[in-house]
Amino acid sequence: MANSADIGIIGGTGVYDPGLFSSKREIKVHTPYGEPSDLVTIGEYAGVKVAFIPRHGRGHRIPPHSINSRANIWTLKELGVKRIIAPSAVGSLQESYRPGDIAIPDQFIDFTKKRQYTFYDGGQVCHVSVADPFCPELSSIAIDKTKKLKFPMHDRATYVCIEGPRFSTRAESKFFRDVMKADIIGMTLVPEVNLAREAEICYMSIATVTDYDVWADKPVSSAEIIETLAKNVEKTKKLIAELVPAIPAVRKKCACGSALESALL
Ligand code: ADE
Repeated sequence: MANSADIGIIGGTGVYDPGLFSSKREIKVHTPYGEPSDLVTIGEYAGVKVAFIPRHGRGHRIPPHSINSRANIWTLKELGVKRIIAPSAVGSLQESYRPGDIAIPDQFIDFTKKRQYTFYDGGQVCHVSVADPFCPELSSIAIDKTKKLKFPMHDRATYVCIEGPRFSTRAESKFFRDVMKADIIGMTLVPEVNLAREAEICYMSIATVTDYDVWADKPVSSAEIIETLAKNVEKTKKLIAELVPAIPAVRKKCACGSALESALL
């Protein structure tokens, strides 16, 4: 197929261009769920075909609660993508997660409120398992590569996803930190991660810590987030450059590709 890719990257805040591709072209895609966040860039890196979608659109036009994740994931599925690498910016709920650190989550807690959570909302019912929402094989390669690059990193992070676009109140932040014991907080993981599972695509998150959330006393500001990201976006790009060629062509060590086997009624 002319327009195809093996790996998809959904770029988060600050990652509007993977900066990796040797040859690239942009395509416009329509899906039954509407349009993805932007034109899709398809290119090659280290002999691997990669598709890139900026999650918030170019120029950061789309707020977290309005991202059309169904169109983004559908687009990648249509292109033949089997693995998704998903960078994003997150706040820290624990002292040890410092601004600039990378976190690789293995769990999420969903505090979103009104998003489109499934491709199966009529006709056929699907209860997909997200007990382990992130692909263990992809995440473990990313953990190895982050260590090799000597970037400060936390694996097994729990990501709490809030609706946004506002930040949390102090009470909410303390609840997420002290009661739920979550590690990082963001606004974009859900429903992207569970839609990828419904599409039987492996998914892993590279979360860059941009701030201490408001439990730490000082209110979060968008300016602080952008400033920390600007300093750290190169880390994410270096990690992706190491990660892409290290992903085996065939999926053998995960069950992401057969997630629907026991999910459809
Ligand atoms: N994204 C980056 N920092 C955040 C925070 N503190 N809360 C929610 N989303 C974020």
